[in-house]
Amino acid sequence: MKRQNILITGGLGYVGSHIAVNLLNIGHNVTIVDNCSTSKIGTLYNIIKIAGKNPIYYNFDINNTERLTSVLKDNRIDTVIHCAGLKSVQESIENNLKYFYSIYINSHNVIDAMKLAKVNNIIFSSSATVYGPEAEYPIREKSELKPNNPYAQYKLQVEQLLRKTSVEVPKFKAVVFRFFNILGAHESGLIGDFGQEGYSNVMKNISDVYIGKEPVFKIAGNDRKTHDGTGMRDYIHVNDIADAHSQAIKYLHTLDNYTVLNLGNGRAFSVLSVLKGFQHACGQEIPHTFVPRREGDVDVSYSDNTQARQTIYFSPKRSLDDMCSSHFNFVVKNTPELMQGKNSVK
Ligand code: WQD
Repeated sequence: MKRQNILITGGLGYVGSHIAVNLLNIGHNVTIVDNCSTSKIGTLYNIIKIAGKNPIYYNFDINNTERLTSVLKDNRIDTVIHCAGLKSVQESIENNLKYFYSIYINSHNVIDAMKLAKVNNIIFSSSATVYGPEAEYPIREKSELKPNNPYAQYKLQVEQLLRKTSVEVPKFKAVVFRFFNILGAHESGLIGDFGQEGYSNVMKNISDVYIGKEPVFKIAGNDRKTHDGTGMRDYIHVNDIADAHSQAIKYLHTLDNYTVLNLGNGRAFSVLSVLKGFQHACGQEIPHTFVPRREGDVDVSYSDNTQARQTIYFSPKRSLDDMCSSHFNFVVKNTPELMQGKNSVK
């Protein structure tokens, strides 16, 4: 394995921290830039505790292009993994401008800094939401792109900017990962999904009932065209996502200058299956009720992950039970912080 110097923006976040642990364990040198606006400094110490190695850490906002350029140069970065960015569809609808800056402008800054520092490789965290709610499943990379919210629109605009840069800048190479629904936590329970107050996804909303933060889990719609009437999504373990990033680093030299890959399990699970999985993990019933579906909430979505399997030999290994039990273990170890109103513990 050729040791690389890798910079992770948002490396203290949910996905970024699992990628950092993976790359440190493989033997790469990891540099993290994270302003802790939606993450915790405690995660840095947990990354060190798990990996037994120290990443280099900088606490600043990636909108500081000059500082980012210096960090890229000073650490002789080979590849940037760009995870930093807000990630709530609903919040992006409520605050479009905030997402324009967080996703589009900041990504533009990262690309500008890379050009100035002559760093040519980037792996970008995009999203399956760029396909839009009407996408026919299984969703392929060539499926029509019809983003229907600001979050997805800006993610797609960054993809287009990366494709343009890969054409215009010699040797510039971009891998775009379109994440489906990421669940689970590192087996240590030290790092995981703290969620975002008011905008959390299904698993966090279930476990918030378990810890007593919420009285009941609300299932959005039980009249869907699915086997049990509840919504179905392509859930994938965060450690499988981290493995995919390590695979992309390993096979980067074999990839085209612009590569888009779906990162999903290639199958869908229902909300009730996730609920049952968490109940099995925690050993108790979680009070739940049915409420009307959310606007724009599709019944079924899942990926065709053939391209990732064939180009970077991606092979998701973890089951829905692994996702539920590892999140439960994380919750047990982090309940005090998860009970907090704002996710503001530093
Ligand atoms: C999953 C299923 C809901 C909460 C999100 C965002 C985006 C993307 C993927 C990054 C659906 C149901 C949920 C609840 C419920 N990630 N549900 N009760 O909406 O598929 O997509 O994750 O790009 O963050 O687009 O995820 O977890 O909100 O919903 O019944 O309290 O769970 O109806 O069927 P979603 P989700």
